[in-house]
Amino acid sequence: MRVSSLRLLALCAGLVSAENGINGWLRYAPLSDDKILQQGLDTLPSVIVTLNSTKTSPVYTAGKELQAGILGVIGESLNITHQTEPAAQSSSILVGTAAAYNAGYGTVDISKFAPDGFWLSIQKGSVKIVGQNERGALYGAFEYLSRISRGNFSDVDLISNPDAPIRWVNQWDNLDGSIERGYAGRSIFFWNGTVVQDLTRVAQYARLLASIRINAIVPNNVNANANSLNNENIEGLGRIADVLRPYGIQVGLSLNFASPQLLGGLSTFDPLEPSVVSWWTEKTALLYKRIPDLAGYLVKANSEGQPGPLTYNRTLADGANLFAKAVKPYGGVVLFRAFVYDHHADWNVWTNDRANAAVQFFKHLDGEFLDNIVVQIKYGAIDFQIREPANPLFANIPKTNKAIELQITQEYLGQQSHFVYIPPLWKEILDFDMRADSKPSLVRDIVAGRRYNNTLGGYAGVVNVGTNTSWLGHHLAMSNLYAYGLLAWDPTLSSEDLLHDWTRLTFGPDPVVLKTVSDISLATLPTYENYSGNLGIQTLTDILYTHFGPNPASQDNNGWGQWTRATATHIGMDRTVKNGTGNAGQYPPEVAAIFENIETTPDDLLLWFHHVPYTHRLKSGKTVIQHFYDAHYEGAKTAQTFPRQWEALRNKVDVERFTEVLFRLTYQAGHSIVWRDSINNFYHNLSRIDDEHGRVGNHPHRIEAERLSLKGYSLVKANPLETASNFTAVAVTATDGLGEAVIKLDDVKSGTYDVAFAYYDVIGGRAHYGAFLNGEPLLEWIGDLEDKLGHAFSNKIDGHSATRVTVKGVEIQKGDELKIIGVVDGIETAALDYVAIIPPGELD
Ligand code: GCU
Repeated sequence: MRVSSLRLLALCAGLVSAENGINGWLRYAPLSDDKILQQGLDTLPSVIVTLNSTKTSPVYTAGKELQAGILGVIGESLNITHQTEPAAQSSSILVGTAAAYNAGYGTVDISKFAPDGFWLSIQKGSVKIVGQNERGALYGAFEYLSRISRGNFSDVDLISNPDAPIRWVNQWDNLDGSIERGYAGRSIFFWNGTVVQDLTRVAQYARLLASIRINAIVPNNVNANANSLNNENIEGLGRIADVLRPYGIQVGLSLNFASPQLLGGLSTFDPLEPSVVSWWTEKTALLYKRIPDLAGYLVKANSEGQPGPLTYNRTLADGANLFAKAVKPYGGVVLFRAFVYDHHADWNVWTNDRANAAVQFFKHLDGEFLDNIVVQIKYGAIDFQIREPANPLFANIPKTNKAIELQITQEYLGQQSHFVYIPPLWKEILDFDMRADSKPSLVRDIVAGRRYNNTLGGYAGVVNVGTNTSWLGHHLAMSNLYAYGLLAWDPTLSSEDLLHDWTRLTFGPDPVVLKTVSDISLATLPTYENYSGNLGIQTLTDILYTHFGPNPASQDNNGWGQWTRATATHIGMDRTVKNGTGNAGQYPPEVAAIFENIETTPDDLLLWFHHVPYTHRLKSGKTVIQHFYDAHYEGAKTAQTFPRQWEALRNKVDVERFTEVLFRLTYQAGHSIVWRDSINNFYHNLSRIDDEHGRVGNHPHRIEAERLSLKGYSLVKANPLETASNFTAVAVTATDGLGEAVIKLDDVKSGTYDVAFAYYDVIGGRAHYGAFLNGEPLLEWIGDLEDKLGHAFSNKIDGHSATRVTVKGVEIQKGDELKIIGVVDGIETAALDYVAIIPPGELD
């Protein structure tokens, strides 16, 4: 039996080291269970042997990572050597490529490996980690470390191969350091037009990504700046590539199609023009000179105002092939996005449909894309909505390589101020059977290349991490990144198991923690769907502004094509062939028949495919409108349980992460009520159909701000109207910037209550609020969510800025005086919507 010499030291280090999330799931926290630790010590090899000593090699990285991981988890410091006698292998962790291993240490059957695959063998103190290539070896090392970090020291003999070769992440980082749809601070890659000097965070990110088997990063936004290709930025990209290389991660680059003109000064960017072809050929040569292992290009063309080949009446295939030819000699690939649509479509035309665009743009080009092109397809035909059917394009271009694009950054799913564990949504899409040619045609088999015998294919995840130490802004949201990588490797893994492993690695083995994180996380997706958009109507967020808070009217009557076609009597897009946009007919016949027929369309996609009266009865027996009302009440109610459940983990999770998560879950609970009321009021107002249960527009525990005695405050409308309770709020308009709102609580029975204040936290100011009960301070708060959530919501009184705070357990006597003082700051007018005096356990 061996006793850990360094355990105490490691434990101490573990206790003092701040848990700010920077290490994600790679914390290597000491094992706390003595029995398990002893197992680890008993089976621990005595040395690490890495079969490559070059510092930039992922095998070298694997050795260092194994050393650090074992020290952290078991408290033992193992030496690393770069060769060993076969005899010494019985007590070593040997890590290397199959070629290196077969050259003197043993025999592994190379034919069993796919590129990037690995073999992991753990047999009584002898560990062999052999990769098909260098990065495969590193993946194997991370697999071993994940096991021991979870206290699993059992013997194993496994070969693991990726389902698909493309396992990329896309960052949407701009050269100025801002991040499109990023919610966790500034870019870790760029600042002020160029690549940051200190790439420490990039290395830390690479480590996380390598552990989930991601093999390429595209750091710059798909809305690409032509300056990404200037000499300074090529050098910068080269530095990024140098930092990623030891982690087995390649760098790729988003291109601006008009670069030959914008940067090169040519008069054209026509993809068939010889000067344009030469310009790209030379640029590509320059890039590969600096970065010989550049993964390739990512291209967004002719979409949302971006330039592309259609400008010159060339096809999208002409455009893609231009780049494919340029990178071909270097082994590069081109990820060409299928997110092409007209954002000025005429909404008055019943048959117009943005969801049809991808198939319309790409189907006839099938067979024209060169073999190093992969068409990158968003999971649904619109845009990362809370629910969409799988994109029909997956089944329409059999000869073309395809990748699925998923979004880890929660653009339409609460932007990490709400937490949604997304993998169940991804799994539903990946497991969807297109029944092409009446044969099994799961999306995951299509993107793996298996279904249509494509040579390439895979996964692109939009991640958008930022400088915040939590990476994504919300500690819990990191489970999405973890699961994304491992699903891209093996899409048959279960969302629940991935979550369990992530939680174990991120927060430790306490069963209460494991259960609570799992209960909350798995409830988030249905809950968010309940309180945002139901029955396939899309997220119902404000699509003209920041995609965060509610604004159902913004979907319609504009060219963006996220239409709901809501009228006073009906709602939903008619996508049938017989009477609508024909989108149902873009699916292979068996699936098309299901969606064409209202009887066979699943309820949760009803309004995606059909335009129906609000009184239409669902299979559940409820009407559409009552389903909306009930779902929104249900969703907001469940969201209230998240902070309560998390509270149980006080003292079980370190203070920093506990507090930050609690803050966000509490925010989410409050904002879910904003969602519930806004959506319900909007459709109630539009349809004039009452809620069967009398809840909508009826809040007996609320005192509307406009009913308080106001000094310095005036009535204001929110925009949209329904984002204020009773359609009215109040804001300070007094020139001294001070407002006072007072009420005598004559209608409240004496007792204990939770008191909620609904207000608007706009960016551009940090207003102060003070609430007093009979002159005694009850609560003081500041409109500073932009700092606390690191998220710029809105500078207006609307559904993004609407929020609330609650004080629990307040003793109130009938007739008490409640006063709120608001102090303006900047453009923040200390606006208030209502006060709710809520009996414990109820919701207003
Ligand atoms: C969405 C998103 C944009 C992004 C675009 C894309 O529309 O809101 O910010 O540029 O998708 O994926 O290209």
